[in-house]
Amino acid sequence: MLEKIEILKTGKAKALYTTSDPSKLIMEYRDDTSAFDGKKIEQLAGKGTVNNRFNGHIMDHLQSKGVDNHHIEATAPNESIVMSLDMFPIECVVRNFAAGSICKRLGLEEAMVMEPPIFEFFYKDDSLGDPLINDCHITAFGWANEDDIEVMKELTLKTNDILVTLFDSADLILVDFKLEFGKSDGKIYLGDEFTPDGCRVWDKETKKKLDKDRFRLGLGDVVESYQEIAHRLGINLT
Ligand SMILES: Nc1ncnc2c1ncn2[C@@H]1O[C@H](COP(=O)(O)OP(=O)(O)O)[C@@H](O)[C@H]1O
Ligand SMILES: [Mg+2]
Repeated sequence: MLEKIEILKTGKAKALYTTSDPSKLIMEYRDDTSAFDGKKIEQLAGKGTVNNRFNGHIMDHLQSKGVDNHHIEATAPNESIVMSLDMFPIECVVRNFAAGSICKRLGLEEAMVMEPPIFEFFYKDDSLGDPLINDCHITAFGWANEDDIEVMKELTLKTNDILVTLFDSADLILVDFKLEFGKSDGKIYLGDEFTPDGCRVWDKETKKKLDKDRFRLGLGDVVESYQEIAHRLGINLT
């Protein structure tokens, strides 16, 4: 079995370890929960496990539909083996309904339908508050080339189609989400995570928020709500 050797990166919610195989890393999901670019941080018991299980299920589903990604297999309740990627310092966001920063930025009412879905790039830098950027910033600053940009947009929108359908079948609305991509041997893979920490999900009927907005807004039952989404999607959390 592949074992952790040393810490490669520690982020706000996860840690990455090197292994004896240079092409593989172990990703550990911690209970740390952060919001507002790391200004609000708390430990939420069990969140690491829920997110690791959740992510594994979604990544496997995406892989089966042709979205190549870094997930290999879980090795512990809160750990998985992933492909080592050279990450782009970019976040790819799709919005099906208005919520969060876009409401403030453009003066939109929450839940307004975005048709067609809106794609946005953000520069991944907490000290700058992850600012909105466009293709010109990405190429001018050498963060990715034009082909990479097209692939990231295409894969993000494809992921949206796949997951909107999946969540809808569980009576859930996928409001928006964030993806991060990286490269290995010149090919782009979906990396990082797809969990309720990085998406917005509402109950179809009541519009109850079931994602990290419960933490941001102090609504409580954060991990319980993540478990509720997982349960409805048939994800095994043990
Ligand atoms: N397959 C991968 N290979 C290398 N780095 C990765 C991979 N997947 C995710 N990462 C990076 O691991 C870091 C840790 O994740 P996280 O705790 O979410 O950090 P952050 O605080 O930057 O959001 C992030 O910088 C993320 O981009
Ligand atoms: Mg992160």
